[in-house]
Amino acid sequence: MNDELFINTVQKYPAVWTHPTNKEISGSCRLLNFFKEMFKNIFLNRLRTRTFDLISYNSRNVVTGIENIHNNDIGKEVEFKGWVKSVRKHKENIFVDLSYGIVKDKVQILIPLKLNPQVSPGTSIAVKGRLHLSPRGQIELLAERIKVFGKCSMEEGYPFAPRKTYAPEYVRQYLHLRPRYNKFSSLLKVRSAAELVIHEYFNSEGYISVHTPILTSNDCEGAGEIFKVIPDNEALLTDMVREKVPLHEAFFNTKVFLSVSGQLHLEAAAHSLHKVYTFGPTFRAENSKTRLHLSEFYMVESEIAFLEKLEELIQIIEELIKSVTKSLLNRCEDDIQLFCTENKISFTWLDKNFPILTYSEAIGILKSNRENFKTDIDYNKGFSKEHEIFLVNYCGGSPTFIINWPKVMKPFYMKECEDEDTEVAALDLLAPGVGEIVGGSLRENNYIKLKNRLPKLSEQLEWYLDLRKYGGVPTGGFGLGFERYLLFLLGINNIKDTIPFPRWPHNCSL
Ligand code: 4AD
Ligand code: MG
Repeated sequence: MNDELFINTVQKYPAVWTHPTNKEISGSCRLLNFFKEMFKNIFLNRLRTRTFDLISYNSRNVVTGIENIHNNDIGKEVEFKGWVKSVRKHKENIFVDLSYGIVKDKVQILIPLKLNPQVSPGTSIAVKGRLHLSPRGQIELLAERIKVFGKCSMEEGYPFAPRKTYAPEYVRQYLHLRPRYNKFSSLLKVRSAAELVIHEYFNSEGYISVHTPILTSNDCEGAGEIFKVIPDNEALLTDMVREKVPLHEAFFNTKVFLSVSGQLHLEAAAHSLHKVYTFGPTFRAENSKTRLHLSEFYMVESEIAFLEKLEELIQIIEELIKSVTKSLLNRCEDDIQLFCTENKISFTWLDKNFPILTYSEAIGILKSNRENFKTDIDYNKGFSKEHEIFLVNYCGGSPTFIINWPKVMKPFYMKECEDEDTEVAALDLLAPGVGEIVGGSLRENNYIKLKNRLPKLSEQLEWYLDLRKYGGVPTGGFGLGFERYLLFLLGINNIKDTIPFPRWPHNCSL
């Protein structure tokens, strides 16, 4: 390919071109250095901003690319790079739909047969030519030169035919090729936007992001669903081992696990920063092969100091979910629509208050409708999935809070209810079709009560007690399962189809 042509065209028609070239960047750096020398620190900040503007201006054009092309661009010379989505052969030309990956619209390319195009769906190409108007009034690219980067053919095993719809189970067999399947690439775009919007929300509300560790010596939830981490190197362990330390704990001098929740560390930060959150991977060693469980998933957790009432926490969670969903609907309407039409999802709940039931009320409702269930209703065992989904429907189909849970069913850190010490001020948020998407509570801030409820390995959690001992305050927080939220948002049936590379019992391929 002719790089000179590429650079010239970038300068002439920045709105439709690809990445800024190294030459451009190095050019702007030279300019920057020149000015730096001249004005030293005085104008440095301003110049930095200008350089950033220049780069982000170009990269913004990459993202918006084809959408920015207007009729007055007709006749301009441009280049597109991408993957062939479909091919239609005519007498003298072939028509190719090319996908960038980063823009929602595909570009139609008209390639004269005399260019001898060797393109089948999935092939990666660069194509240069001029924009023109098709007889149907669409802007398309009339190819003048084409370069094939990588061929792709179904005969050799590529699993996706153009314009064909496949069952998620089929697509899931090809985790490494799945990002190329249209619907899954839409999922990845929505997932990325959702992450961004969540960060934006917390940032705009004054929360501080805190990276909690993935390697930890505590089992926050106390359910024993933890993966142990040890170096896969016996010689190293033998070399490191100290007196009275078991060989497999030689690396850290203690047992270490993959985190089941960043909550306890987040609480430490909240005792200084007031409002904090974390968004990262979480691991659960539970033998659940359901459509709602992963061994590795992402959790959005938040912790708020000086929070005394469960109602305040409810408000924060409801506001987060509504606000994030509204922003997402604005940001990637087309990709979301792709799922919602097929999965019959509506967003009427956005304009309603989320209903609230106490745990006892919920059990009462289930008992008076027991003929609807295959699973038993037991006050001490919590809800089965069919119970959760029934409760949401019973309350009108909006996400529903269940509050004030029996103490015996919940982890040690949850605060006792003021008027009923067999219950804790905890909440689960149940979503339509999914069930639990959020778990949270007020935290026990009474030093003595907390000490008495600490799990057996309590010497590992002395530090957690210290949070109450020194300048302790009432706190509360919650964890939103990110993939469960995506299930709910998009009406997807199986959680394995909401994460790029799912891990679940007996499955950790790639
Ligand atoms: O209810 P959980 O276990 O709560 C906690 O971990 C608290 N420490 C959070 C906090 O208060 N900071 O988990 C929170 C959410 C669940 O509501 C669910 O959405 C999701 O995490 N979750 C899972 N998602 C996918 N696969 C699994 N195996 C999950 N386990 C929990
Ligand atoms: Mg829970």
